[in-house]
Amino acid sequence: MDMQRQILELKEQVLSRESLPVDISRYDSIVVAGMGGSGVTSLILSDLYQEKPVFSVMGYDLPKFVDKKSLFIAVSYSGNTEETLSCFEQALERGCDAVAITSGGKLAERCSDRIMVPAGIQPRSALGYMVMPLINTFLGLTDADRKRISDAIAGMFRRENEIRTHARRIVERKMLPVFIGDTSSRGVVTRWRTQINENSKLIAYSCFLPEANHNDTVWMANRSWPEKDITVLSGGEPRIEKRIRAMEKLTGLTFNRISHSGGVLERNFAWIAYGDMLSYHIAVERGVDPEDVSVLTRLKNEIA
Ligand code: F6R
Repeated sequence: MDMQRQILELKEQVLSRESLPVDISRYDSIVVAGMGGSGVTSLILSDLYQEKPVFSVMGYDLPKFVDKKSLFIAVSYSGNTEETLSCFEQALERGCDAVAITSGGKLAERCSDRIMVPAGIQPRSALGYMVMPLINTFLGLTDADRKRISDAIAGMFRRENEIRTHARRIVERKMLPVFIGDTSSRGVVTRWRTQINENSKLIAYSCFLPEANHNDTVWMANRSWPEKDITVLSGGEPRIEKRIRAMEKLTGLTFNRISHSGGVLERNFAWIAYGDMLSYHIAVERGVDPEDVSVLTRLKNEIA
């Protein structure tokens, strides 16, 4: 399946009813381990769910606080990612209940409480399959909620001409894509950045407000190279909007805004759809293969 079709599939993937076989009332904290296209699911979850602490582990070791009262979730599409497997083994040693979201590999062999997702696509293209079990479990979504998310994604994909124009501007002017989120879209801006890295084979930068008003705003106010294409993904919170207006005034920059409707769930997924499609069109405009991430495989082999 080519990358554009993999991206378009998101609107079907989010209809998944899968949820984790756990009783969340039994845990004090949720620890999600995963890397890259799998790991971003933990950020997307923690932007949406605040009833209990959600800790993202993007590395080899679990933090010291993790114990029997933590629910451990390993997310690895291949099921063979070294860092995630290391965290999984540590979770078992500490007596945690451990569940996995995977398409196979060692994780599927070792973890009996697991959700199996369809194999055969790029890990980053299985985002919907991997994130929905998390969101269904912690947010208790209904079919109607999932349909609203899917419709929001489909609506964004219908704006492909606008997205292609955005991609052309970045490529023709050799701009650095910059994405500014807020505290409800940290996962989204991370997803945008990593999709540009992997699909478009380009450097991109992301930050979020209000933190960016304590550092990034300085470079924005001082022109430097390369030229930046800056997109703000704000949920419309008045204090954040005020900051955005002040930034535009003081820096002289005009930020791209991606319009949206609906609540935070629909909005975040619609934005993910935009970013995925943007990364694809940048790749097409640059004449690079959006699917190829063979250097990541070679790196994994090199250190195995
Ligand atoms: C590849 C991709 C990568 C992988 C990462 C972890 O499409 O997006 O970022 O997701 O190397 O591998 P998995 O997801 O198999 O645990």
